[in-house]
Amino acid sequence: MERLVVAALALCALAPSARCATGSVAWCYHLPSCNDTTWPVIAPQYCNGTRQSPIDIVSASAKPDANLTAFTFHNFSRTSALQKIENTGKTVKVKLESGVRVSGGDLSEDYESLQFHLHWGNGSSVPGSEHTVNGKRYPMELHIVNLKSSHKGNITQALADPTGLAALGFFIEEMSGNATGQPASWRTLTSYLANITNSSDSVSVAPGISLDDLLDGVDRTKYYRYLGSLTTPTCNEAVVWTVFKESIKVSKDLIDLFSTTVRVSNGSSPYTINVYRNLQPAQPVTTQPASSSTSSTTCYSLGLMALSLALGRS
Ligand SMILES: *[C@@H]1O[C@H](CO)[C@@H](O)[C@H](O)[C@H]1NC(C)=O
Ligand SMILES: *[C@@H]1O[C@H](CO)[C@@H](O)[C@H](O)[C@H]1NC(C)=O
Ligand SMILES: *[C@@H]1O[C@H](CO)[C@@H](O)[C@H](O)[C@H]1NC(C)=O
Ligand SMILES: *[C@@H]1O[C@H](CO)[C@@H](O)[C@H](O)[C@H]1NC(C)=O
Ligand SMILES: *[C@@H]1O[C@H](CO)[C@@H](O)[C@H](O)[C@H]1NC(C)=O
Ligand SMILES: *[C@@H]1O[C@H](CO)[C@@H](O)[C@H](O)[C@H]1NC(C)=O
Ligand SMILES: *[C@@H]1O[C@H](CO)[C@@H](O)[C@H](O)[C@H]1NC(C)=O
Ligand SMILES: *[C@@H]1O[C@H](CO)[C@@H](O)[C@H](O)[C@H]1NC(C)=O
Ligand SMILES: *[C@@H]1O[C@H](CO)[C@@H](O)[C@H](O)[C@H]1NC(C)=O
Ligand SMILES: *[C@@H]1O[C@H](CO)[C@@H](O)[C@H](O)[C@H]1NC(C)=O
Ligand SMILES: [Zn+2]
Repeated sequence: MERLVVAALALCALAPSARCATGSVAWCYHLPSCNDTTWPVIAPQYCNGTRQSPIDIVSASAKPDANLTAFTFHNFSRTSALQKIENTGKTVKVKLESGVRVSGGDLSEDYESLQFHLHWGNGSSVPGSEHTVNGKRYPMELHIVNLKSSHKGNITQALADPTGLAALGFFIEEMSGNATGQPASWRTLTSYLANITNSSDSVSVAPGISLDDLLDGVDRTKYYRYLGSLTTPTCNEAVVWTVFKESIKVSKDLIDLFSTTVRVSNGSSPYTINVYRNLQPAQPVTTQPASSSTSSTTCYSLGLMALSLALGRS
């Protein structure tokens, strides 16, 4: 999950390894002086905490919790919801219009969806998701960042609340077969990358694609849940994490555009690659209980089979 204080980020980018104004720190993914192994030192509050993200999710250790019901996604179908796309130098971020929100899914109240952004490696063959599942790292991960409604847009207040933010994480995987430019929603989204090749470039997104279009094909009732943190400094432990089990399928050519189009600063700087934090210590994870109807049906039919075998023998 990308940091929220954009102005501070821009200032800090000019002075790597120096401590910046507004209480934030300069940080990076790739320089020895500020990469993620240094975050617990350069930002000890909170990157050196005890509920840090991302984590490896061990599916067999996820405890069943029947409270993890379906979400309601408000305005995810609005084709004007995506406002502006920006190259921050560390990610590609899309600002959402107000009125997009999420509720249900055992969240304590409504959360307003502020933005989504992405994490990636170096093309579809060098994966760069933040979370992993049973040790598997996916090519990319999309994070939708949502702020608890009762904080009324006050991010400072939300960051001081252990459940002030809700992050929705979606893995992105290569579509099978030889498709190119698919799905159309991702073709449209990635078509903007050429307009934001330099850091701090941004352009408006034309109406036409919705969040539902981008999340197409994912069963959003199946997910993992744990309490964690922002995955960039200052790593505030304020995030209710939801990581969906099914991945978004995107064709290889579109995945590859992220690591071959946007740059960390201007036209002579490197491409933005491997923008994810390393794994942090495990946390308790919950998920939906295994469907009891399926297993009881199986037991029942096995029972019937045993009964009929017994009857047949007598
Ligand atoms: C990160 O920085 C540390 C030193 O602070 C260095 O040992 C390590 O190799 C660096 N890792 C990467 C991936 O740059
Ligand atoms: C991080 O926390 C650990 C355990 O609380 C502590 O031993 C270590 O000194 C801390 N490191 C920094 C840089 O604050
Ligand atoms: C489910 O929610 C109920 C009511 O809020 C609560 O009492 C119970 O502890 C929750 N169960 C779990 C496993 O968290
Ligand atoms: C969707 O967004 C519009 C525009 O912000 C808002 O008027 C409307 O109430 C929202 N709908 C829902 C269901 O939240
Ligand atoms: C990223 O991938 C490109 C294309 O495969 C390759 O040329 C480049 O060396 C890779 N960069 C790193 C840092 O591995
Ligand atoms: C946000 O909340 C903090 C802490 O409660 C408060 O100090 C600050 O004034 C609030 N900011 C705004 C813009 O309301
Ligand atoms: C993909 O393309 C290769 C080479 O053109 C071909 O051999 C293969 O059958 C194609 N696979 C699919 C699923 O279309
Ligand atoms: C993106 O760049 C292309 C080519 O330079 C240009 O035609 C198009 O108008 C730009 N789109 C936006 C939204 O700025
Ligand atoms: C590009 O950025 C580098 C530092 O990142 C700077 O030295 C150089 O002057 C910049 N070039 C242009 C054309 O802006
Ligand atoms: C990016 O910066 C370079 C100079 O480093 C400039 O030539 C180019 O036009 C800029 N690209 C965009 C899309 O503004
Ligand atoms: Zn993120």
